[in-house]
Amino acid sequence: MARTPRQLALAYDELDAPTDLSPTELRVWDAARAATARAYAPYSRFFVGAALLLADGTVFQGTNQENAAYPSGLCAERTALFGLAAAQPDHPPIVGMAVAARPAEGDFGPAMPCGACRQVMLEYESRQGQPIPLLLPSRHGSIMRFASLADLMPFTFSANDLPKNGEG
Ligand code: THU
Repeated sequence: MARTPRQLALAYDELDAPTDLSPTELRVWDAARAATARAYAPYSRFFVGAALLLADGTVFQGTNQENAAYPSGLCAERTALFGLAAAQPDHPPIVGMAVAARPAEGDFGPAMPCGACRQVMLEYESRQGQPIPLLLPSRHGSIMRFASLADLMPFTFSANDLPKNGEG
């Protein structure tokens, strides 16, 4: 017999404008937008920036890095996280993240992390053992605020899905 379909609720805040952000949130928001100026996106002409706010108050930025061999390029979210972890493996906890995107000629628009970036974002959140709040620009200038990166991606594949050493 067929079961009742299950439903999933996804929690986030929707803010009307950056004026609704706290001063700390505004810092990471502005840093993501500023980073887009350093994107290397000669093929898509779509400039993406990501910013990570650390517990010591410093901000680490990433941008998309494209390549003539298209799949070799990397998204801004991952250059930020990989760049931080590579340069500073013992970095202070990440206490905020924001993403921004705009076409080469045009204004900032929505920036939704791709599936591969979500997977990587979750790895770093679980690695540090504390949630990373995330700000994403949505349609019509509004802002989506997630309390945790985990809220972006249910049914994830994680270290828990791998056999433990010595098992099996
Ligand atoms: N891109 C990002 O940097 N982040 C995303 O979340 C989506 C897409 C980049 C990859 C590529 O350089 C360009 O945007 C067009 O897909």
